[in-house]
Amino acid sequence: MRLISGSARLAGVTGWPVSHSRSPRIHNSWLARHGIDGTYVPLPVRPEDFAAVIPALAKAGFAGVNVTIPHKEAAFAVCTRVDDLARRAGAVNTLIFTDHGIEGRNTDGYGFVANLRAHGVNPAAGPVLILGAGGAARGIGAALQDEGANITFTNRTPERAAALAAALPPAKVLPWESREDALSGFALLVNTTSLGMVHEPPLAMDLSRAAPGLAVADIIFAPLETQLLADAKARGLKPVEGLGMLLHQAVPGFEAWFGMRPTVDEELYRIAAA
Ligand code: ATR
Repeated sequence: MRLISGSARLAGVTGWPVSHSRSPRIHNSWLARHGIDGTYVPLPVRPEDFAAVIPALAKAGFAGVNVTIPHKEAAFAVCTRVDDLARRAGAVNTLIFTDHGIEGRNTDGYGFVANLRAHGVNPAAGPVLILGAGGAARGIGAALQDEGANITFTNRTPERAAALAAALPPAKVLPWESREDALSGFALLVNTTSLGMVHEPPLAMDLSRAAPGLAVADIIFAPLETQLLADAKARGLKPVEGLGMLLHQAVPGFEAWFGMRPTVDEELYRIAAA
């Protein structure tokens, strides 16, 4: 049995609801593996309480917290300083409490890119088509641009894609209706919409015009293999599953709070997928 002491390091995940979060499993598995005196807890925080709870957690000795839906934009506002990706994403998923205030980072895009690389996919190998224009599309788009990728957004509501492209120049936009016909011009396809997730409608995306070797990444991890990824696999394309992004985005936070950089391996996949 692993016990914590009176000087244990504390971290957690704030969300509403938070019971579905896999982050406690991920971080506590690393803590156990490395014998670190610390713990990581789920913190259900109502939206109206978020701004008061965060400084209180810092005062209560927490090293920091992850932030999940619906608090990622509110988290941005409580920070003393934010990193470049958080600023461009307009959202924060990792808070680090320091003597100088609250530092905010966005590691979602980092996690996405690290997961691509773990699958042997070069993010800048060719043009990238991003389905969706919400917060996830924004964070991933900014991180891909940092890797030198040339990105195009397509979204059901075209105004949102246009606004996102304008915020991340020189990103381009494509009409939602053209996403299948235009597919042959891309090396990487990324689904950031909620379509294909359990309890959500399916994503209509015919991959028949894909160029050989197209990498197809989905950020959805429930189910672990979405229809999009199954279609990509069946066509001999390169599927990149969403759970890896979640595992990799956790690495920088863990390192900041607990002082060592953990690794993402098969065992962690099994624990997080269970
Ligand atoms: P997040 O911040 O997690 O990315 P979001 O802002 O709610 O979440 O974005 C969800 C994305 O899924 C959006 O791009 C949304 O398209 P709209 O901007 O047109 O709403 C997309 N989406 C959700 N349901 C959809 C549907 N039935 N058809 C097409 N796109 C859909």
